[in-house]
Amino acid sequence: MSKYLVRGGLPLAGKITVHGAKNSILPVLAASLLNQTGEQIRLKKVPSLYDVRAMISILTGLGAQVERDGEDLLLQTANVDCYHVPEALMREMRSSIFLMGPLLGRLGRARLCYPGGCKIGLRPINLHLEGLRTLGAVIEVDEKEGYIEAWGRPRGGEVDLDYPSVGATENLILAAVTAHGDTVIRNAACEPEIVDLQNFLNILGAKVEGAGSPVIKVKGVSGLHGGSYNVFPDRIVAGTFLLAAAITRGSVTVEGVIPDHLKALLRLLDQAGASVKVAGSAVTVSADRLKAVSRVETKPYPGFPTDLQPPLVACLTLARGTSTMIEHVFKERFHHVSELRKMGAQITVRGRQAVINGVAVLNGAAVTAADLRAGAALVLAALAAKGESNILEIHHIERGYERLPEALRSLGARIFRVEGVREEAVF
Ligand code: UD1
Repeated sequence: MSKYLVRGGLPLAGKITVHGAKNSILPVLAASLLNQTGEQIRLKKVPSLYDVRAMISILTGLGAQVERDGEDLLLQTANVDCYHVPEALMREMRSSIFLMGPLLGRLGRARLCYPGGCKIGLRPINLHLEGLRTLGAVIEVDEKEGYIEAWGRPRGGEVDLDYPSVGATENLILAAVTAHGDTVIRNAACEPEIVDLQNFLNILGAKVEGAGSPVIKVKGVSGLHGGSYNVFPDRIVAGTFLLAAAITRGSVTVEGVIPDHLKALLRLLDQAGASVKVAGSAVTVSADRLKAVSRVETKPYPGFPTDLQPPLVACLTLARGTSTMIEHVFKERFHHVSELRKMGAQITVRGRQAVINGVAVLNGAAVTAADLRAGAALVLAALAAKGESNILEIHHIERGYERLPEALRSLGARIFRVEGVREEAVF
């Protein structure tokens, strides 16, 4: 029953760096299964996030050895011989479906539980399965038991994705890396995390090109070896801190980022009247009360990222005027709205569209994080709200943000993680 206690109303100010991108680290960890040599893989600066720990448990369950060396992770995958990802671990990590590609590449077999059935409902994986079948896998789905079994060493092929799914693109690259023959993936996702995966794989001896564009080509190689890699900084965490500056009418510099990855957000913040300054790998956002933005639409990269939709909606609740947010990527991604309303936000949702009428103040409240980014939205709203807020179910937030209260306190926020149900005098 841990929760965050937040006393809002202080403008955030200062400088902060962000950790490595969770959405890069997860597929990179899965990719390590393709190294059979016994040589070590060193991943630098890996945050201790819930999702990362869950993926490590899966890898060790499959026979890998994973150790921490300060901020780095050391992986040894020579003894991986198990192709079955246990249900309990699979359910911990919804996105672990992209283990299927590397397991097929490594062992020619994979057994995973269906990544649905959890709170967010069934997660479609049709694009993963169709693509892997095109690369020669035989796949059986036992819908009653919720299991997927796959056989067959991948062979090269041509896959045209109906939608540029991030996870399916990663799964197919991972299946193709050690396939017999060459693979072309069309309408591939262009997210920076795909580029990160390509860079990592190529350091380990793969032959992948085109990541960041809609056509990715993979020349099958016999296997990967060890190497050392530092993933990109987490653009969603960086965006969250910049939005925290905006909602609290403060001024925050996020250092060590790749500003190009944040372009869609920075353009929007500029439109909303914030001052945005980019200097090398640092981005500074300073803001007074934001202006509404008439229409924001989430889209695959380089469009506005769906993962920053909830935090941006939180900011727009306090903007002057009416904003409209259209969520194109996920069907149901407005779980933060009912909680923001408890704090006084005026938002109406119809299908994929939320209309946000800016209010002058939000008030602290007891609110519950329904998922990772919805939780981030509540933290931002609480930082700007009058009075105290309690944020519950923070394990969702800890899936993707490392020591968030400490990070925000370094910028002047009053936010504490408290254990148990006791109301402690923490402020
Ligand atoms: C990844 C990110 C997530 C981000 C999302 C979109 C990770 C671990 N997670 O998730 O943070 O929000 O990209 O940028 O990297 N779809 C299908 N069939 C499929 C696969 C996907 O219909 O086989 C649909 C999904 O339901 C969703 C859309 O495609 O509506 C986008 O999903 P996808 O790009 O696959 O996201 P993830 O890889 O799950």
